Amino acid sequence: MFCSNNYLGLSNHPKLKEAAVRAIQSHGVGSGSVRPIAGNMDLHVELEGRLAKFKHAEASLVYQTGFAANSGLIPQLAGKGDVIVSDELNHGSIIDGVRLSHAERAVYKHTDTQDLKRVLEETEKHDPPYRRILIITDGVFSMDGDIAPLDEIAELGAEHNAMVYVDDAHGEGVLGEGGRGIVSHFKLDRDKVHVEMGTFSKAFGVVGGHISGSIDLINFSYNKSRTWLLSGSHPPGVAAACIAAIDILETEPWHVQNLWENTRYFKKTMKDLGFNIGNSATPITPIIVGESGLAKRLSAGLFEKSVFALPIVYPMVARDKARIRTIMNAALTKDDLNFAIEAFEKIARELHII
Ligand SMILES: Cc1ncc(COP(=O)(O)O)c(C=O)c1O
Repeated sequence: MFCSNNYLGLSNHPKLKEAAVRAIQSHGVGSGSVRPIAGNMDLHVELEGRLAKFKHAEASLVYQTGFAANSGLIPQLAGKGDVIVSDELNHGSIIDGVRLSHAERAVYKHTDTQDLKRVLEETEKHDPPYRRILIITDGVFSMDGDIAPLDEIAELGAEHNAMVYVDDAHGEGVLGEGGRGIVSHFKLDRDKVHVEMGTFSKAFGVVGGHISGSIDLINFSYNKSRTWLLSGSHPPGVAAACIAAIDILETEPWHVQNLWENTRYFKKTMKDLGFNIGNSATPITPIIVGESGLAKRLSAGLFEKSVFALPIVYPMVARDKARIRTIMNAALTKDDLNFAIEAFEKIARELHII
């Protein structure tokens, strides 16, 4: 498996499975309601406390999914008279959140802080002045595996009195101390990154979105986000499995270490073989082949050899940048990696990719 977001292999970790089963036995399979009515269980509250502690934040709030967090919160943070400044390659859930707001939007070139500076200077000249400037970026960009320069973005945000929102879906469980994510990776002050958003559906191996930040942010968010207020809360088994995932990250550091060891080995070997692996700085490694048909043929050949790695083609990426987007997994052994690398090499040679 070379294209799952289950970076640490936690979806199949026995402690997560046991926690889910125990919660089903004690609490049932459903929560019975939305959080603000009868669907607020001790497990949801415990999960938020554990997450805030893990993130070294004042407080956290859990949504049903990451998509629900972005599409429910962004329109509440910025409205009429505000401007949202967004990286051009931000995730679709951010784009939808921005569309649902009544704010104006300004887009800066991908990870380009010079261009962000230019956009911020322009927004400052707006007449009448904007009430609020909200900068939003993905932490790790999922198609290329590159990392947003959040340290510089946070500085620019502070200089221009802007609020900073980072979507760390692909950084959690991956970057930072013990997988604490991008804010930890750059050792940033929380007063310069106001919203750290993430998901339990990737490295945590379960499902569910979340935000971390100040107590004021969390109070505001659960009073305002319609996706949080008006949609059923997580089944208890999900909340319990998410708590167990945090336990694992806190007590079994080798999952994150294995992920990076595997990543380094795979990237180096593939590069040495002559593959174009782009500029990724994370366990997402694009194998860029160019034309869409070629990427599809490479993926099909890999599948025949029992390696699952799907192609990403236009319009998800530029026409000449079709690729196999591989995502490393901590549970793969060296033998597994060599098995996959051999398959990549054989088929790529047949297709004259290398
Ligand atoms: C950057 C980013 N943000 C948000 C999401 C949505 O997360 P979830 O799967 O929890 O809805 C994803 C998932 O694809 C993502 O990659």
